[in-house]
Amino acid sequence: MTKERMVYINGDMVPENEAKISIFDSAVLIGDAVLETTRTFNHKLFRWTEHRNRLLRSINGARLNFDLTPKELDEVTQEFLLANLPTLAPGDEGGVGHLISRGRMGLVLPTTTTTFVMYFFPLSRGLSKKAIYYEKGCHVVTPATRHMHPLTVDPKIKYRSRLHFSLADEEARLVDPEAIPLMLDHQGNLTEGTGWNFFLVCRGELLTASERNILQGVSRMTTIELARGLGLTVKEQDLQSYHAVTADEAFITSTGMCVMPVTRFNGQLVGDGKPGKLTLDLMNRWKEHVDFDFVAHAKRFT
Ligand SMILES: Cc1ncc(COP(=O)(O)O)c(C=O)c1O
Repeated sequence: MTKERMVYINGDMVPENEAKISIFDSAVLIGDAVLETTRTFNHKLFRWTEHRNRLLRSINGARLNFDLTPKELDEVTQEFLLANLPTLAPGDEGGVGHLISRGRMGLVLPTTTTTFVMYFFPLSRGLSKKAIYYEKGCHVVTPATRHMHPLTVDPKIKYRSRLHFSLADEEARLVDPEAIPLMLDHQGNLTEGTGWNFFLVCRGELLTASERNILQGVSRMTTIELARGLGLTVKEQDLQSYHAVTADEAFITSTGMCVMPVTRFNGQLVGDGKPGKLTLDLMNRWKEHVDFDFVAHAKRFT
């Protein structure tokens, strides 16, 4: 059993503090890479098939070379997970990151075709800071920076170059140090956050942005399935800030947070300013579905 986290680089498993990629790698030099992040519940990867398929679509969409078959990718990912699970603190869960870049660029050394890296991280580290928002809800603001236009780079590709996300984060913090940014598209429609999808509850219906200019979130898909299972109507459509400030409830979804309530939008209360009833119902439905209390997990590590 190892206590040292391992990193996978092009077929080799190495201790994290010895892992190296070239500083001339396209991921480093020009942010030319795609990624995927998958989490565990009870130490098993959640919806790995959907994450793997989205990763393969990102690789295709970005015209990258990748020669592992889906089965080989499954095997190497599982082996990598098992090597890293023993590094987790008791009660913690893990995230597996996949990163595929176009490879080393030929500035100094010869070009290589593809760099494939997997890394592992304890989920408690990021989630413990967010635990408080399960109770009080997040403040979402729309920053000046717009989302990438889908005719420039389609946000359905999970790409690594995220300067616009960092700008959006900085701009949100100017409004409120605790706020998180929801980027608008070029026509003012709500899109997504820097690592999450956005939902509104309006008169009993669940509304979320259409897939035109967002990442097809696996947690978004899970939430839609669970909501339909509860008999709710779910509509994927263009939404503007107007919909958010007149909504009864709002929440965000992501691999790490699962479902997180939103209680303020651009400084205005959403509904009565408390996590909404349908949001709480969906959080409970999620917990049953994954057989894991993600709120208790985040709180446990604060
Ligand atoms: C831009 C963006 N949108 C949405 C999401 C949520 O997707 P998922 O639910 O698959 O984590 C992510 C996840 O990292 C993301 O990066």
